[in-house]
Amino acid sequence: MLQVEKAIKELEMEGRKAAAVFVTSPTYHGICSNLSEISKLCHSCNIPLIVDEAHGAHLGFHPSMPCSALQQGADLAVQSTHKVLCSLTQSSMLHMSGNRVDRERICKCLQTIQSTSPSYLLLASLDAARAQLSENPETIFNKVMELAVEMRTLINKIPGIAVLDFPSFSSFPAFDPLRITIGVWQLGLSGYEADHILIKDYGVVSELIGSGSITFAINLGTCREHVLRLVSGFKHLSGTFSLNQGMSQRLDDIECSPFDDINMILSPRDAFFASKRKVSVRESLGEICGELITPFPPGIPVLIPGEVITQRALNYLLQLRSRGAVITGVADPLLSSIVVCNT
Ligand SMILES: Cc1ncc(COP(=O)(O)O)c(C=O)c1O
Repeated sequence: MLQVEKAIKELEMEGRKAAAVFVTSPTYHGICSNLSEISKLCHSCNIPLIVDEAHGAHLGFHPSMPCSALQQGADLAVQSTHKVLCSLTQSSMLHMSGNRVDRERICKCLQTIQSTSPSYLLLASLDAARAQLSENPETIFNKVMELAVEMRTLINKIPGIAVLDFPSFSSFPAFDPLRITIGVWQLGLSGYEADHILIKDYGVVSELIGSGSITFAINLGTCREHVLRLVSGFKHLSGTFSLNQGMSQRLDDIECSPFDDINMILSPRDAFFASKRKVSVRESLGEICGELITPFPPGIPVLIPGEVITQRALNYLLQLRSRGAVITGVADPLLSSIVVCNT
């Protein structure tokens, strides 16, 4: 809220006005912004609020869940209906409220990017997800909300495993109870290593992997057997790695991204069209990056074309790589070489 106010004021001082405020809420980890305050602030300046609610299509469908973006006054909200609700992957919805945003203009904008051959499979799956919710909107999430509480309680009892506990962070106004982030760093394990064991030995598939934690999404398809399997997996990790002396310091040296020392020499467009060469990682230091270097998960680029390659970014990438992250977007996923721009 304060950040939004500051950004609006800064623009005003330059004699400009924000065309819209764009907020991502909830985040991948389920952290929600105070959208009702932000929407009041935006509307007092006649600025529309647009919310990336990709992870929140289910919000507002249970009394213990945060309200949805539209319920909190957003003008536009984009939801990945496929993420927590049950439509097919790739299907999503754009919701509008009020008349601050011109509906006809939105339709025209959509026409410029949409296919002329919509997938009726995807559209039907969206309608099925809507129908599923509308049958019993008050109670549909009751069972999985109970499972989420049970999962948190059971995981919290396992030695060496930490559950991200949002209520203890007073600056977060709300969180999604169906997202659970579990830390494994006290066991000296990276999120990637723990994830590998959970998939291979327990068939547990996570939503997002971090350097020292894993985030899980509970949805309408989750059942008690899934929760118990996940808990067994973490008990196994705790029992196997908790006594592993010497490893617990191993993750302390992982730096947190994003870095604040980003130096763009070329625009991504100029870098895209520039002539390039492949150099060893050691030689790439100080060169202009020629490719999008993205550890996956989470799929957020660490270096983009046009940016100067720093020792910090290289250390971070190599550390993630050695701990099991897959590097995507690059010519050499092992990162022994990097494509750089000729200058
Ligand atoms: C915050 C956020 N917005 C948008 C998207 C993209 O959503 P979709 O995969 O439905 O295109 C994602 C994907 O994970 C996301 O995390």
